[in-house]
Amino acid sequence: MKIGIIGAGHIGGALTRRLTALGHTVLVANSRGPETLRDLAAETGATAVTPRQAVTGVDAIVVTIPEKNIPDLPHDLFTNVPRAVPVIDTGNYYPQQRDGRIAAIEAGGLDESWRQQPGTPVYAADLDAAGVRRALSAARSERTAQWKAR
Ligand SMILES: NC(=O)c1ccc[n+]([C@@H]2O[C@H](COP(=O)([O-])OP(=O)(O)OC[C@H]3O[C@@H](n4cnc5c(N)ncnc54)[C@H](OP(=O)(O)O)[C@@H]3O)[C@@H](O)[C@H]2O)c1
Repeated sequence: MKIGIIGAGHIGGALTRRLTALGHTVLVANSRGPETLRDLAAETGATAVTPRQAVTGVDAIVVTIPEKNIPDLPHDLFTNVPRAVPVIDTGNYYPQQRDGRIAAIEAGGLDESWRQQPGTPVYAADLDAAGVRRALSAARSERTAQWKAR
């Protein structure tokens, strides 16, 4: 496949290496311009391009830039991308804390970390400190489908 990747950091770089190694044609872009991706291109055989070029004539697109930078992308970037082309965004769009309350909660050691896996009561929930404690203690260790999918 011909795959466009916007973002050449940890994830974009790893995808560029892996997908080219698997024989795919990769177009990779960052914010600073193709000339800054010369080393990655030389290492992998990918083509360093602009974000617009990365979404042109490709079979699939991966957007892997920090969520805060998404508004910096050209607003019409996907206008001419055919509907059949999948766009994969690696961003984790978690609900934001809306009112600025921050409370540190002691949630136990690594052996207790399953209590906050996807699908548990506390996961991505908007709770106060008491609610977080209640949700952590209400967690059950059976792996939910959402948890297994991670
Ligand atoms: N799904 C998951 O499990 C998972 C795990 C980790 C991270 N993530 C998410 O994946 C995304 C990338 O993470 P990362 O660790 O790879 O980030 P990173 O190492 O910081 O790399 C970010 C890349 O985005 C590029 N970029 C930033 N703004 C851009 C723009 N306006 N146009 C084009 N390229 C732009 C940067 O290019 P320059 O250097 O030229 O600015 C850089 O190559 C983040 O949203 C992160 O939250 C997801």
